[in-house]
Amino acid sequence: MKVSLTVNGTRYQRDIEPRMLLVHFLREELGLTGTNIGCDTSQCGACTVHMEGRSLKSCTCLAVQAEGREITTIEGLAQDGALHPMQEAFWEKHGLQCGYCTPGMIMAAAAFLKDHPDPSEREIRHGLEGNLCRCTGYQNIVAAVQEAARQRKGGNS
Ligand code: FES
Ligand code: FES
Repeated sequence: MKVSLTVNGTRYQRDIEPRMLLVHFLREELGLTGTNIGCDTSQCGACTVHMEGRSLKSCTCLAVQAEGREITTIEGLAQDGALHPMQEAFWEKHGLQCGYCTPGMIMAAAAFLKDHPDPSEREIRHGLEGNLCRCTGYQNIVAAVQEAARQRKGGNS
């Protein structure tokens, strides 16, 4: 079955199995292995990407359902060689340890912040509860999202 979609600004067309998941399409067909797989039950969020700017667990979506859509993966988040502010904030605030959850966490957090420009700690925790981290205890992840929110507002608070 033919599918055609845009990933990180590039249009791709492939002939694939109709049941292929988007996460497998990204990793196996396009070689974009920054999007991780951490479970097989839609639980962990390691596979989070953006579809049309909204957060999506790419293991919950068939590749053919992304027909004609714009997908962004962690590889496409940096622009013109500059890290995305959320990537910077995770770096600054040590929001990762093993890093396995990190691509999905950053994608989820970036989409969350677009809808919640001034989130409370509680809102951040709630907003990211679909993304699991086995290492950090979440404290530094929350701090990273708070930092990214501060930077987004101009770094004044
Ligand atoms: S791999 Fe998609 S939620 Fe875990
Ligand atoms: S940093 Fe290891 S799972 Fe989150």
